[in-house]
Amino acid sequence: MNKTTLINDFKNIFKSDLNPKVYFSPGRVNLIGEHIDYNGGYVFPCAINLGTYALSKKTKDSTFKLYSKNFENTGIIKVNLENISYNPKYDWANYPLGIIKTLIDEGYNINSGLDIYFYGDIPNGAGLSSSASIELATIITLKDMFNLDISMLDMIKLSQKSENTFNNVKCGIMDQFACGMAKKNYGTLLNTNTLSYKYVPLYLKDTSIIITNSNIKRGLTDSKYNERIKECKRALKAFKKVLDINTLCDLTEQQFKENKHLINNPLDLKRARHAIYENQRTINSVKALNNGNLKLFGKLMTKSHISLKDDYEVSIKELDLLVDLALKNKAIGSRMTGAGFGGCTISLVSKDNIKNFIKNVGNEYTKETGYKADFYIVTTDDGARILQ
Ligand code: GLA
Repeated sequence: MNKTTLINDFKNIFKSDLNPKVYFSPGRVNLIGEHIDYNGGYVFPCAINLGTYALSKKTKDSTFKLYSKNFENTGIIKVNLENISYNPKYDWANYPLGIIKTLIDEGYNINSGLDIYFYGDIPNGAGLSSSASIELATIITLKDMFNLDISMLDMIKLSQKSENTFNNVKCGIMDQFACGMAKKNYGTLLNTNTLSYKYVPLYLKDTSIIITNSNIKRGLTDSKYNERIKECKRALKAFKKVLDINTLCDLTEQQFKENKHLINNPLDLKRARHAIYENQRTINSVKALNNGNLKLFGKLMTKSHISLKDDYEVSIKELDLLVDLALKNKAIGSRMTGAGFGGCTISLVSKDNIKNFIKNVGNEYTKETGYKADFYIVTTDDGARILQ
């Protein structure tokens, strides 16, 4: 949908003659470094050219009116700024409401309501950060509309806090960071322990990043996700009895090998092994990319998938199948991306093979599962911004 269509629709929905301002936050895909942003590890996401638009103008009273083109059935959701709390019946709008409430609670001067119209082209629940994208789109809208003195880093931290507390999803900081800070043509190597980061050029030569959506919506993710966090915490606690560390990813692979007897619970041991090895894989994969060694980068992606499947147990058979089919169809590397339990895989595919790849993987996936896969040839994007 183009900007003019969105603006006209905003005017129509909110019965307004005035043009709204337009904001955009991308979604993200994680190249490698999965499930370690809450373990102090390195993650390596980039923003993608799918995302969330927010169109807004101030209202004369203190009511926020929220509308999403993606969820027309919920209509306009009206909430007074003094009266914001989580409500299941607000459905998708709990994400922007969480942001508004968090900013108010932090003492930012939000002194009137806003009309906000959202439209997103990221598939929901597919592991491409539709939630972080709407959070960042909302928070940059509020910053601009109310002239708030707030840095991008603080907006990222507050968006994570909002999702952790208001929406009760204990996510790490990767998604908000990627949607807020990303840079076109670069991946962002983020140290989630210190929040220091580096932009790494995505020199992919004659290969492209292909996202394949299994079209299996993440079921039960939030509870399984929170369960993984608990398991990692238990493993950390066991290590800490003897070792002076703050996060699981403070350990090297060697230290893990030498100290794994400290963990009695075999599940916790597997979770810890994934985290520690995934961290090293992420560091190695960025080195490989910097050295122009895409083959090694791809190999590490595939190893990441195996670890997510066997040790972290967040994959599902449809994602495993997509990875197998991708490799059979000459992908240089392939893995599930995001939280797992459904959603997407990411594959590195040579440009002259893309057509065949999509045809073959698509056909075989449908033949075996009955589901249709969607393919996205990704271009990278900048972080959240004002569009006009
Ligand atoms: C979700 C969370 C992120 C991260 C990934 C897994 O996307 O929001 O913080 O933990 O899962 O890497």
